[in-house]
Amino acid sequence: MTQRTLVLLKPDAVRRGLVGQILGRFEAKGLSLVELELRTINGEQADAHYAEHLDRDFYPPLRTFITSGPLVAVVVEGEEAVPVVRTLIGPTDGRQAPAGTIRGDYSLSNRENLVHASDSPESADREIALWFPAA
Ligand code: CMP
Repeated sequence: MTQRTLVLLKPDAVRRGLVGQILGRFEAKGLSLVELELRTINGEQADAHYAEHLDRDFYPPLRTFITSGPLVAVVVEGEEAVPVVRTLIGPTDGRQAPAGTIRGDYSLSNRENLVHASDSPESADREIALWFPAA
């Protein structure tokens, strides 16, 4: 089944010059990039995106981080795109993510973990509407 998912290449990915390599992994897998924009978000936009995490201890520094510079917002489309992209990026903590995943290969952090991807089709619908209301 063809799905769409919302992917963010977070400010660490942009600062480290990893945007091309990360997007290349999605393309090499056979997925399509159907929306793409470099954007710097403010705190209110971060709160809307991470609505389910607002009360978590890790949220205040995450909010500072995600608003700290430009990120790349992307809508990725393809067969089973939601779980396929989650598999490609790997578990949240880059220190534990397996080699071969994006976080496993490029991140040593559970906050600065380079990529966000929707965790379910329902989240994807909500996040795509938030980031790309015209899509
Ligand atoms: P993401 O997939 O964008 O979803 C929530 C984000 O919160 C996660 O990636 C990390 O950037 C961050 N995060 C999750 N758990 C922790 C944690 N324990 N400590 C710090 N940051 C976290």
